[in-house]
Amino acid sequence: MTGVAASSVRSRRPASVASLLADVRDVGRDPRRGGYSRFAYTPAELELRTWFEAEAARRSLDVVTDRNGILWAWRPGPGGSLDDAVVTGSHLDSVPGGGEFDGPLGVASAFAALDLLAARDVAGERPLAIVAFPEEEGGRFGRACLGSQLMTGEQDPDRVLGLLDADGTSLADALTGAGLDPVHLGRDEEALRRIGVFVELHVEQGRGLVDLDQPVAVGSSILGHGRWRLTVTGEGNHAGATLMADRRDPMVAAAQVVVAVRDLARSRPDARATVGRLQPVPGGTNVIASRVDLWLDVRHPDDDVTRALVAQVLESAHAVCAAEGCAVELVEESYSGQVRFDSGLRDRLCGVLPDAPVLATGAGHDAGVLAAHVPSAMLFTRNPTGVSHSPEEHVDDADAEAGAAALADVLQDLLVSREHR
Ligand code: GLV
Ligand code: MN
Ligand code: MN
Repeated sequence: MTGVAASSVRSRRPASVASLLADVRDVGRDPRRGGYSRFAYTPAELELRTWFEAEAARRSLDVVTDRNGILWAWRPGPGGSLDDAVVTGSHLDSVPGGGEFDGPLGVASAFAALDLLAARDVAGERPLAIVAFPEEEGGRFGRACLGSQLMTGEQDPDRVLGLLDADGTSLADALTGAGLDPVHLGRDEEALRRIGVFVELHVEQGRGLVDLDQPVAVGSSILGHGRWRLTVTGEGNHAGATLMADRRDPMVAAAQVVVAVRDLARSRPDARATVGRLQPVPGGTNVIASRVDLWLDVRHPDDDVTRALVAQVLESAHAVCAAEGCAVELVEESYSGQVRFDSGLRDRLCGVLPDAPVLATGAGHDAGVLAAHVPSAMLFTRNPTGVSHSPEEHVDDADAEAGAAALADVLQDLLVSREHR
C-alpha cells in the first residue's frame, strides 16, 4: 500500500447520511429490474468509488486502492502510523435490482460519523480508516465477499481470476479494465495487520428493529450460508416438432428441483433455501432447453444441517431428473460457516449503546469474513419495510442519522482506548 501521508480531519459541518446518499441516488439505477444494479468494476460501481474518493478528499483522508481492489480512506495515527487502526465501512456493489442502502449506507454512515467525531474534536490515539470492499454480493462473478475473502486468503486468486460475468468478461479482465493488476491478488498480511478492529454498519435485512421499536442494533452472529450450482442436462429440441412423450426437458426437471428445495427447507426448522437464479441454455421460447443451471443458496445456524440439506436436495434432484430422462450435477461455489462476533467487542459496543438490542442476521457480510482474522462487530440500522435485496429496502432519514451517531459513539470509544484487545 502506498501514498499514505499523515493528515488530520478539518472540523467541518457534519454531512448527513441522507445528503451523502442523495449524491449517488441516480448512480446505477436499473430501469429494467427496478432498483439498482451496481456490479463490481462496472461503470456504476466505479462511479461510486469516485464518489468515495471525493468524500475522502473533502475530509483530507488519504485514499488507496489496495491489491485486492479494496478502497481505503485513511486518517493516520500519531507519527503517521497505520497500525492497529479502527476501521469501518462496507461495500458499494449491489445485487441485481437491489436497494439503495445495502452497502452504501455503511459507507455513507462512516463518512458522517467521521464528521461527527471531527465536530466533537475527537482525534484519539489510533489511526482510522473507512473501507469499501468490492463484489460483496457476488452479483457479477458469483463469489460473495470476494474482496474480503481475497484479503484474508480465504479465496485462492487462481480459482477466481477466470470467473466470467454474464457478458463473458473474466474477473482478470475486469480488474485490468479498472486499472488493477490481477497478479497481485491474494492474502494481504499488511492490510490485516493494520486492522485493529473492524465495525461494519449495515441496513437491517429484517424486521427485528421495527418489532423492538429501536433505530439501531448491535450484531451478534451471521447465519452460516453457501452457494451451489446445479446443472441439469437433457436434450435440446424443437418446441413444435417434439412430441410430449419424446422429451427430455431439463426445464421441467429444474422446476421440480425448485419445489423440492422449498419443501426440504421447510421440513428443517431455521433453514432457508432459495433458488433465485435459473438459466436455461440456449434460452429460446420455441426451444426445449438442452441444459439448465440453477443456483442454490442455503443457510442454517448449524453447518451440519446445511450440509445435510444440500445432500437431500441433490438426492431429490437425482430422482426427479432421472424421471424426466435428465441428469444432474452439483458444484459447491462457496461456503461460510456460522459466525459469532467477538463477544468482548460486542459487549463493549453494547456498553456504548445501552439501548441497542443485540440481533443476529441471516445475511452475509464482509465483517463476517474478517471476524475469523480480526476483532469485528456490526451495527444495524432500522429498515421499516424489513425487505432487502429489493427496491423496497428503506431507511428513514432520522434512523440513518441515529445510525451514524451510534457509529460515531462506537468509533470514539475505540479510538481513545484499545481496552478490548
Ligand atoms: C448478502 O447480502 C447475502 O447475504 O447474500
Ligand atoms: Mn450488504
Ligand atoms: Mn446484500
